[in-house]
Parts: sequence; structure tokens; C-alpha cells
Amino acid sequence: MPALVLLGAQWGDEGKGKATDLLGGSVDYVVRFQGGNNAGHTVVVGDQKYALHLLPSGILSPGCTPVIGNGVVVDPAVLFSELNGLNERGVDTSKLLISGNAHLITPYHTTIDKVTERFLGKRKIGTTGRGIGPAYADKINRVGIRVQDLFDESILEQKVEAALDFKNQVLAKLYNRRAIAVGEVVEELLGFADRLRPYVADTSLILNNAIDEGKVVLFEGGQGTLLDVDHGTYPFVTSSNPTSGGACTGAGVGPTKISRVIGILKAYTTRVGAGPFPTELFDDDGEALRRIGGERGVTTGRDRRCGWFDAVIARYATRVNGLTDFFLTKLDVLTGWEQIPVCVAYEIDGKRVEDLPYSQTDFHHAKPIYEYLPGWSEDITKAKTFDDLPKNAQDYVKALEEMSGAPISAIGVGPGRDETIEINSFL
Ligand code: GDP
Ligand code: IMO
Ligand code: MG
Repeated sequence: MPALVLLGAQWGDEGKGKATDLLGGSVDYVVRFQGGNNAGHTVVVGDQKYALHLLPSGILSPGCTPVIGNGVVVDPAVLFSELNGLNERGVDTSKLLISGNAHLITPYHTTIDKVTERFLGKRKIGTTGRGIGPAYADKINRVGIRVQDLFDESILEQKVEAALDFKNQVLAKLYNRRAIAVGEVVEELLGFADRLRPYVADTSLILNNAIDEGKVVLFEGGQGTLLDVDHGTYPFVTSSNPTSGGACTGAGVGPTKISRVIGILKAYTTRVGAGPFPTELFDDDGEALRRIGGERGVTTGRDRRCGWFDAVIARYATRVNGLTDFFLTKLDVLTGWEQIPVCVAYEIDGKRVEDLPYSQTDFHHAKPIYEYLPGWSEDITKAKTFDDLPKNAQDYVKALEEMSGAPISAIGVGPGRDETIEINSFL
């Protein structure tokens, strides 16, 4: 089992950080392949809680080499502040590797992210404001700045000039903002070069060699399937591919090397930011899920929108990612409900629909069709095996598995590393 992908099966915040950290002790490399510091991955180790944004969650496992792949967008200021924060807490970060081909988020990307959202008004996406979309837009427009550009001052200057030429017109004429000086940006970026240099490597080569040698490589997704720019609820998505194919392009590893794809799936559903969400709750149940599940964004501190489990989405995640397994998280949060609604299909314009509609209009009209599963009231946070779970909790898990199209190989019953029921080993 040399290469595994671990990704979000819903709209993000499924518990990818915890799942990655759990496996981190047994893998050689943990690789971020897309996104940037829009992610907020929480890892709880004993009484210590870590919130990781840009760094792979494997950084907390001493034997593991953390890698930032070419598909990630790197804000160097955030990178160093995150590294400093971990170093102050005694975490050794010296093994980190960063692809020279990863693109940089510069202050102008963050500015443009914020002004664009303001300009969109009520049509805004609700981005994290971290410059993610504008940095990927520059990458695709071929005016991006890459990590390796920091090591050649004259190239850097030319590239920043090319990137700002058009943007300054837009900033000044459309948004009424001050134009950004090329020299200022170049100076700021060059200020990171010396500290960045030792981490920079040909990460595609290193990872392919590692897989060929039988080392275990784990690709850790950010965001989630429904936030994918191709397969998500466009335009209410992020600007990268958090689906499994993104691991190949974002790390430089071929699909034939990937042996397992694990979808992290919350036992209910949450979403941050704007966009359709068929099972969203606006009542006391939604409030209770938010409170009990602690559903507040790790990156922006926004309350997460909460709703019941949606099997249509889970089936879709199985399909577009080729999932081999699910890791079901936060089952403990559902303790105490007499019965738990689960969305098994949608009603769209009077018709029952089993698969996620590919038309945006249809998805906006989708109404959940619920089945009601019996709940449980016993505390399940100490459960170590599937048999330790009360019968109704077992049946809930089995029903979700049946509806979702891939085996549930682990169950989270609390935020800590050991609050996990392993059913099938991932390694
Ligand atoms: P990520 O972005 O996918 O890594 O998820 P987040 O860290 O943003 O949000 C998941 C939250 O749920 C974090 O606060 C985790 O500590 C917590 N968590 C993860 N798994 C479980 C679980 O099985 N039960 C409970 N109660 N909390 C969990
Ligand atoms: P993790 O990795 C949940 C959402 C934002 C917004 C949309 C676009 O912790 O699961 P962006 O800043 O990426 O351009 O915002 O995507 N979003 C997330 N939602 N979890 C995340 O990451 C997210 N990263 C981005 O709220 O709706
Ligand atoms: Mg998160």
C-alpha cells in the first residue's frame, strides 16, 4: 500500500487533519497537493491542539517528512509564521520539503481576493480572503510567481512587473485602490528567499523514488469534493482540485501509483461560505449540531452551516474520486437524537433523483428526501471497536455505508488520536 490519498468527501472540515495525523505515525511522507492556507486542519495530540493551515498534518509525526507539492499555493509570510508557531511549541519542522514549482500567494493576491468579494456584493463566494483564487488565476494566466523565482532577482522582477501591469490598471481604475509598486513586492519576496531555500526540492522526483522503494506516501487533501473547481458546486467552490486526480497533478505522481483513496466523511454535513446545501438546517437541530460539533471555522472563525447527512453527496464523492474507503468522523456528535434524518435522494421538480444533478439550476431546486434512522443516547466516545457501539449507532453506520458506495473503514468518536474505531487497516 505505498501511496494513499486522503481527501474531503463533502464541503471541507470533515476531519482530514485528525485522520492524517492518525496515519502520520506509520507513513514516511505526508503531502499537501492543492489549496493553501485557506485550509484549517485541527489535530489534537493529548492535551495539545494544533491548527494547521498550509503545512501538512504529518509535520506533527517525528518520523514523517512533510511535503508541499507543486499544486499548492504558498503564502511565504504564512508559511514562516506557521513554522515559527510550531517551533515555539517544540515541533521539529526541519524535514519540510517544498516544490520549487509551487506558486506563491503575494500581498496583491490577498488584496484582490478581498476587493473582488466586496465588488460581488450579495453574489460573493464567501472566500477565506487568503488570496487563493487570484493566485490560481495568475497560475492559469501564466503570470504567476513560483517558489523558484525567488532565487533569481532579475527574473522575479520581470515576472512581478508582468503580473502587476494589468492588475494595477484594474485596482486603480475599477476598484479605486492604490497601484502596487513592483519594487516593494520584489523586496518583500526576496526577504523570504534565504530562509526558503533549504526547503526547496524536486518533490515529484523524491516522492516517485520513495514510492518505488516501497515507502508509504500519504496525500492529504485540503477543502473537499464539493468545493472542487471542476466537480464541486461551481461557482461556489475553491480554485483548485481537492478530488483524487488533484493528488497526481499537484504532486507529480501518476495515477497508477495510487493504491487507495480514502474519503473523510462527517456523520452529518457542514459548509462554510455561500452556495447550495440541500440538507441545511435553520432550526434548533442545526443549532445543536453547530454547538455540539463545535462547528466554527478554524481559518476564519465563521460559524459553519450545519445539516443532516446527505447520501447523494457521499455517493458522488465515491464516484468522482474512485474512493476505496470512507473514514466516518464525528459520530459522537449525533448522540442524543431520538431519530436521525438521513437524505437518501432529492426531489427535483416533483421527480425523485438518486444522483447529484449536474445542472446547477437543478441542484439549487433539490429538496432532500429523508429516511429516519433510530438514534442512541449512550456515550460512545470510549468505544474502541465496532461492537462497543450501541446497536442503533452500528445500524446508522451500516446504513450510511450501504448508501454511500464504499466501505467505512474507520469511525471517529472524538477529536483525539485515540478516539477512533479502526475497522479495516489503511496500511
Ligand atoms: P479538516 O479541515 O477536515 O481537517 O477539519 P477541521 O479541523 O476544520 O474540523 C474538524 C473538527 O472536528 C476539528 O475540531 C476536529 O478536532 C474535530 N474532530 C475530528 N474528528 C472528530 C470526531 O470523530 N469527533 C469529534 N467530536 N470531533 C472530531
Ligand atoms: P479545509 O481544508 C471549508 C471555502 C470557503 C469558500 C470557498 C472558496 O479546512 O476543509 P477560497 O478562500 O478557497 O477561495 O474560498 O471555499 N473553503 C473551505 N470551506 N473548509 C476548507 O478547508 C475551505 N477552504 C475553502 O469558505 O466558500
Ligand atoms: Mg478545516
